[in-house]
Amino acid sequence: METTIALQHLKKAFGKQQVLRDIDFTVHQGEIVGLIGPSGAGKSTVIKTMLGMERADGGQAFILQQPMPNRLILGRIGYMAQSDALYEDLTAKENLQFFGQMKGLRKAKLAQEISHVSQVVDLTADLNKLVKGYSGGMKRRLSLAIALLGTPELLILDEPTVGIDPALRRQIWRELATIRDQGRSVLVTTHVMSEAEATDRVALLIGGQIVAFDQPQKLEKQYDVPTIEDVFLQAEKEAVK
Ligand SMILES: Nc1ncnc2c1ncn2[C@@H]1O[C@H](COP(=O)(O)OP(=O)(O)O)[C@@H](O)[C@H]1O
Ligand SMILES: [Mg+2]
Repeated sequence: METTIALQHLKKAFGKQQVLRDIDFTVHQGEIVGLIGPSGAGKSTVIKTMLGMERADGGQAFILQQPMPNRLILGRIGYMAQSDALYEDLTAKENLQFFGQMKGLRKAKLAQEISHVSQVVDLTADLNKLVKGYSGGMKRRLSLAIALLGTPELLILDEPTVGIDPALRRQIWRELATIRDQGRSVLVTTHVMSEAEATDRVALLIGGQIVAFDQPQKLEKQYDVPTIEDVFLQAEKEAVK
């Protein structure tokens, strides 16, 4: 099984605040890995550092077997940031066309993909509206649609389902499962515990360290609790001791 993400002893501080202490982490081909942790734990920093948007103070990140940062690798990843970066004065469709062209998709393929990803996030009926008229949830959905364009072999999604209602959230998770079953990989951060249950492996980031990393069912067994939420609460309690 190929490793699509490998983080080795990754460290990152902002001033005196040591946000990432010593992060070891892997994502394999054909798996959905969740990264959970309280707000401010450093989930987004893990992602930004591995992508080279923040400079690591120590350690090394490999994505698709290449040492990062590497601009060519970025073109092979579907990345969805926590804050939406969209062109507000364009329609959703124009945004999709723009980002699709940036990814090098040809016209016919692009039209086909726009149609598919719009369906996944349920934006088909709103494609011709200006993004500035979109709600927060709609913008999240459009950002996700953009990340899905070009069938990237690795998706890195930072809180993709914030502001998205439960039915659509399920639909999105079904799509992520399909992507996984196609042998592609997904790294997703979330603070929705029911989503963490739907991953193949989940990592708990607390106090700048990964304190647990395994299949959700195995963690529940290990901590002897019924849900990932309980694992999380237990791990948090142990971390502050
Ligand atoms: N560019 C930055 N400059 C200074 N502090 C930052 C910066 N980015 C993040 N932080 C701090 O690092 C910590 C982790 O942030 P973040 O990675 O966004 O957490 P999470 O995504 O888990 O909510 C927070 O305390 C945050 O305030
Ligand atoms: Mg974050």
